[in-house]
Amino acid sequence: MNSNNSDFTDLNIQSKQKLYIETYGCQMNAADSEVVISILQDNGYQTTENIDDADVILVNTCSIRENAEQRVWGRLDVFKHLKKKKPELIVGVIGCMAERLKEEIIKKKKIVDLVVGPDAYRDLPTLLETSETGQKVVNVLLSKEETYDDINPVRLDKNHVSAFVSIMRGCNNMCTYCIVPYVRGRERSRDPETIIREIKEILELGYKEVTLLGQNVDSYYWKTTDSNNHHHELTFAQLLEKVAKISPDLRIRFSTSHPKDISDNVLYTMAMYNNICNHIHLPAQSGSTKVLKLMNRSYTREEYMNKIMAIKKILPECAISTDMMTGFCDETDDDHKETLSLMRWVNYDYAYMFKYSERPGTMAAKKLSDNVPEEIKSRRLTEIIDLQNKLSKTSKKQDIGKIFEVLVEGTSKRSNDNLVGRNSQNKVIVFPRENFQTGDYVSVKIEKTTSATLIGYAVKTIIKTAY
Ligand code: 5AD
Ligand code: SF4
Repeated sequence: MNSNNSDFTDLNIQSKQKLYIETYGCQMNAADSEVVISILQDNGYQTTENIDDADVILVNTCSIRENAEQRVWGRLDVFKHLKKKKPELIVGVIGCMAERLKEEIIKKKKIVDLVVGPDAYRDLPTLLETSETGQKVVNVLLSKEETYDDINPVRLDKNHVSAFVSIMRGCNNMCTYCIVPYVRGRERSRDPETIIREIKEILELGYKEVTLLGQNVDSYYWKTTDSNNHHHELTFAQLLEKVAKISPDLRIRFSTSHPKDISDNVLYTMAMYNNICNHIHLPAQSGSTKVLKLMNRSYTREEYMNKIMAIKKILPECAISTDMMTGFCDETDDDHKETLSLMRWVNYDYAYMFKYSERPGTMAAKKLSDNVPEEIKSRRLTEIIDLQNKLSKTSKKQDIGKIFEVLVEGTSKRSNDNLVGRNSQNKVIVFPRENFQTGDYVSVKIEKTTSATLIGYAVKTIIKTAY
């Protein structure tokens, strides 16, 4: 009887459909893939890391710039060869590009069986069943409520040290260049109870760091009414405090902040709790008030600078990073110089820098002219990258001699004898392994720098084991 049972189980496992998922784009997308896997595992799918084994391939896509979409088109051509070998293979496009292009994807690439937008993942098991019958399926309905708050994401990170938890979805800002509000829908916050519960579970699994994710975390807002008809509200600063209180051994990060919404309360909360990391990603996009207005960013250069001053005053040790875009509509050389001077003034620790890429359907595509020639966009991009490289180098040089608490994330890629982790400021630090392990907090004194990392050695250890 027993052996029969186990035979049956084995058969069951063998008959499970194998899912291979590939993820492009931002951390929100990575977190969504974890939700998708959780939904599909509950419905009898099993993940595989070997694409040749897959019965179902899902590509979780990004639409932010044209080249993000180009990469996916290229991947679909590769999958075509796999489908030739295995005709029953199901290929699905999910995420932002699915939402933007809808049926067009199936029309363009015959191998695609299903197209599913970011708010329709609960429907995936049913949609996959339908596509197994040979029908093409599309669900790109956006929702005003969906936050997947009851779904326990299956963690895909390799080290089990650092996890992402999504606290809100969608975006209500209407930056003229941006496709996100169209592909991710209206902004909605997630029930804080489910956020706290998920973080406690992560902690129990041994994780030491959590990053709270949202397109605009500062506009997180939750309102409830209790049985006595009393209203309770929770802002992002208050949520941050609740999360910080879960355990002093849990590091907290968050992304992304919006310069118009980040409040002094968030800064004071960060100052109050040691375990909230000293890093703020505050995308400026441009240093020119004229361009910021065309982008509909709702702040001027001066207002942005005031926020930076508040950060530097309240959190003197805080690292600041940014996103910058070059060659937006009507950007002149003078506007570009203002971007360069803002970067120098803020003295960013690091930056993500892009060339403006017009996205169909956005306000900029409809109302403004993408009139900066490609060569000029490229030249300006090179200039901001070169400047940022200098700023990052100086910022790292200033760290020589300092001692940082590093959370170890794993073995250094370059050498088995070294460990790698990050400090509170999100800087990557490499140091000799000795007897330390992944997940340890280690005090490291910085000796030297390379272009991407700080290099040091352990000086004394604080191994925080909460369990
Ligand atoms: N073209 C280029 N970069 C863009 N970003 C957003 N939309 C575009 C676009 N159309 C950049 C912004 C944003 C980051 C995630 O991507 O800098 O902060
Ligand atoms: Fe993330 Fe925006 Fe790309 Fe969607 S379009 S994956 S929200 S970066």
